[in-house]
Amino acid sequence: MNINLNEIYEKCIEYSNKIKNPILREVSQLIYKDYKEKLMNKPATTGSHHCFKGGLLYHIYSVTKNAITLCDLYPQLEVDMDLIIFGSLLHDIGKTNDFKDFEENNENLTNGNSSALLGHSYEGTHIVEIYLSKYDIDEQFKNQVIHSIGSHMNEYSEWGALVLPKMLEVVIINFADNIDAHIEPAHDKISNAKIGELYKIENAPREYYKSLNPNYNTNR
Ligand SMILES: [Fe+2]
Ligand SMILES: [Fe+2]
Repeated sequence: MNINLNEIYEKCIEYSNKIKNPILREVSQLIYKDYKEKLMNKPATTGSHHCFKGGLLYHIYSVTKNAITLCDLYPQLEVDMDLIIFGSLLHDIGKTNDFKDFEENNENLTNGNSSALLGHSYEGTHIVEIYLSKYDIDEQFKNQVIHSIGSHMNEYSEWGALVLPKMLEVVIINFADNIDAHIEPAHDKISNAKIGELYKIENAPREYYKSLNPNYNTNR
């Protein structure tokens, strides 16, 4: 897949422009400015999904797109789109400290120190809180914003949430994140598997069957 990272970065800025709350809009754009190089050079993981230069930025873009699309499917749902867009755009910002810049054939992409000890959910909340602390913002709303970063995973695990999601907006970010993390690595796997063959996607718990449908059109 040919990805123009500059275009993807601009699309993320377009999403941030949809944020109506001026503080959240400004903070998201400041962080994107300050972290641009990191977002455009680092992978999203060391192997399970988006393991390529700028994979982190591309994953964040896809999660934001997914989250907005999910909300579009439920137009009556009165969720806070500001929180959903802000949280999606910044949910993995803590990973900028987790990984080295991507280099082909470098198997050791982990940064060590902070990623091992603190994890990207905490790191993300730390980054966002530093920026938010410069603004006059209601304390409990600030906690909600930080919650959208620190609780974007729906479980307590090695990589998991600080607190399980307690807002529907954060549950939506979690679904959008899971969809992308699960489907992106499937691209190569499903196209390399022969019809009827089992194939395995990195993080998936079991092998999948490829369809036997004689009308299966791989060039949909
Ligand atoms: Fe994450
Ligand atoms: Fe993510």
